[in-house]
Amino acid sequence: MSITRRLHTRQTTFRQLEIFKSVAQHLSVTLAAKALHLAQPTVSTQINKLAHSLDCQLFEQVGKRLYLTDMGQEVLKSVRDLFAVMDNLETQLAKRKGLSVGHLRISVVTTAKYLIPHWLGEYCQQYPEIEPEFQIGNRADIIQRLKQNMDDLYVFSNPPRELEIEETFLTENPLVVIARKDHLLRDKPNIGWQELSSERLLMREQGSGTRYAIERFFGQQGLIMQTPITIASNEAIKESVMAGLGIAIVSRHVLNHIEPGNLIELDVVDFPIPNSWYWVLPKGKYMSSAAQAFQAHVIQALARGGEDAQITK
Ligand code: PGA
Repeated sequence: MSITRRLHTRQTTFRQLEIFKSVAQHLSVTLAAKALHLAQPTVSTQINKLAHSLDCQLFEQVGKRLYLTDMGQEVLKSVRDLFAVMDNLETQLAKRKGLSVGHLRISVVTTAKYLIPHWLGEYCQQYPEIEPEFQIGNRADIIQRLKQNMDDLYVFSNPPRELEIEETFLTENPLVVIARKDHLLRDKPNIGWQELSSERLLMREQGSGTRYAIERFFGQQGLIMQTPITIASNEAIKESVMAGLGIAIVSRHVLNHIEPGNLIELDVVDFPIPNSWYWVLPKGKYMSSAAQAFQAHVIQALARGGEDAQITK
């Protein structure tokens, strides 16, 4: 019998799938049992029943640790899709009754955290019954979440095009050179990058999309980059530049929430590095109603002027 047919029979229940999802998330029967307020043996029995009806091994125990098997990973992806569809159904039915309930799980790269909460705030006022779950990480973290189909919607500025995804332009995210306000070249137009070669360059960690875009740009332009000092946070980079540790290349949006004048943007030839944000979904993923409504809200906000979103020099 195929997996689909097995899932359609009475052998597999939603409760089993829910229990499986929780064990897969925690990689622990004990923690899943706690989260679901169930006894540990109940959880184990339901997982065994599910494995039996799907005729595959879902987990393997190595030493004290539990791992999902490849089949288990496959099942988890489908189970997440299934629950997203159910959430959506709930939202649709609620809408018909004049309500708007459901979940909005959105994961974004760190630079987008300066914008998305602003739109999320307005959206939550409009749809107070929708529960948002907002995750922030660097590009590598968000790629992992995307691969595991953990969220309803993703925002990347450098979408992982090696994966099967669908992307839609969101807005510009230019990368600019920043320095302390008293930098010697603060008023100089058209600074050549080589004039900054004696400066210490502060750079995000490996796995950061900002770093990825900068390295790609330097490669394309044939620019030489001094060995950077790695600092794994936009905030810490800003503080370090203000403290005079060096210069940095960051999203212009990162400058949005600091006292004006503490940091300046240098006028460097070939900069800003052109860069944009995109909405991203795994190819073929059904976009939940809550995510569609959020996307529509942002598009409207940008069309209205979105001056908060579009930072111009
Ligand atoms: P990151 O995010 O540098 O934190 O990965 C920004 C981006 O991808 O633009």
